[in-house]
Amino acid sequence: MDLPFDGAISQFFKTEAPKDVRDAIKRSDKGDILSTTYPHGDRLARKPYEKQLAALQIELVKMQAWTKTSGARIAIVFEGRDGAGKGGTISRFRANLNPRGARIVALTKPTETEAGQWYFQRYATHMPSAGEMVFFDRSWYNRGVVEKVFDFCTDAERAQFFRQVTPFEELLVDDKIHLFKFWLNVGRAEQLRRLLKRESDPLKQWKLSWIDVEGLKRWDAYSDAIRETLKRTHNDVSPWTIVRSDDKRRARLNTIRTVLHGLDYDNKNPHAIGEIDTTLCGGPDIWD
Ligand code: ADP
Ligand code: AMP
Ligand code: MLT
Repeated sequence: MDLPFDGAISQFFKTEAPKDVRDAIKRSDKGDILSTTYPHGDRLARKPYEKQLAALQIELVKMQAWTKTSGARIAIVFEGRDGAGKGGTISRFRANLNPRGARIVALTKPTETEAGQWYFQRYATHMPSAGEMVFFDRSWYNRGVVEKVFDFCTDAERAQFFRQVTPFEELLVDDKIHLFKFWLNVGRAEQLRRLLKRESDPLKQWKLSWIDVEGLKRWDAYSDAIRETLKRTHNDVSPWTIVRSDDKRRARLNTIRTVLHGLDYDNKNPHAIGEIDTTLCGGPDIWD
């Protein structure tokens, strides 16, 4: 397949990637954790992962049943750099759920009409109705991060975003929407390793865009925008949960656990949910 960015990730790897990043990838085996500060030495093995995930799936099914009978509304925001694992985590949430009550919202860049509206308007229309769970694969936080890094918005628009975002979320929560905000945090070498894999995998190439390629060069600009966004939008009403996602399996398990522990559904079995690994999942101090 001829893609406009064909080979661009490998090109970046060969010519522009920082030496430590390149070396870490070259030296690595498939199962290695590339981040030197990750709290575990190895990735979680497949067997315990599958066993824990299966137990969580049962809890998720109970949770959805409760959502339907009680009319609860749940909105879960997934943010993170390209390759952080947002899509994969969402698909594990939804694996055994009725898709009708578990929608994904993954919006493209705003149309001209949308760009002429209130910034939050196009997201507001996708909020869950009674009995629904909505997964936002990227969200209104685009304005805090990617739009800043790529100059897709003006400084005034971004300042307005920051003035409005917390009141916006307060309205959602005041209206009894259960709002979760996850920031999946992937290290630089692991991100590049995943994007290289996408480039060489015909089944995954669709996930790549020029933003991913260009974004690799803007790691530090992303870091600044993320740091600022987390600082300004973490609060008691709508806190962030940061998840270190260098190991996808642990990231998925702990994200699902956070949602399950956060909801008071019928027949909940806290023991089956298990404990959250607080060394890789928690408040903004996890970030960096
Ligand atoms: P993905 O979500 O698959 O990682 P991309 O990396 O291509 O998608 O883009 C990242 C985000 O930036 C997406 O949410 C996309 O809608 C948004 N985006 C892309 N181009 C623009 C633009 N011109 N203005 C505003 N947002 C944009
Ligand atoms: P996936 O994102 O599930 O397609 O995983 C990409 C590759 O990395 C697969 O070949 C997996 O076997 C490997 N991998 C991902 N996570 C782990 C892990 N926790 N332990 C061992 N291998 C893993
Ligand atoms: C990721 O975070 O892995 C992807 O770039 C986002 C997605 O799959 O939606």
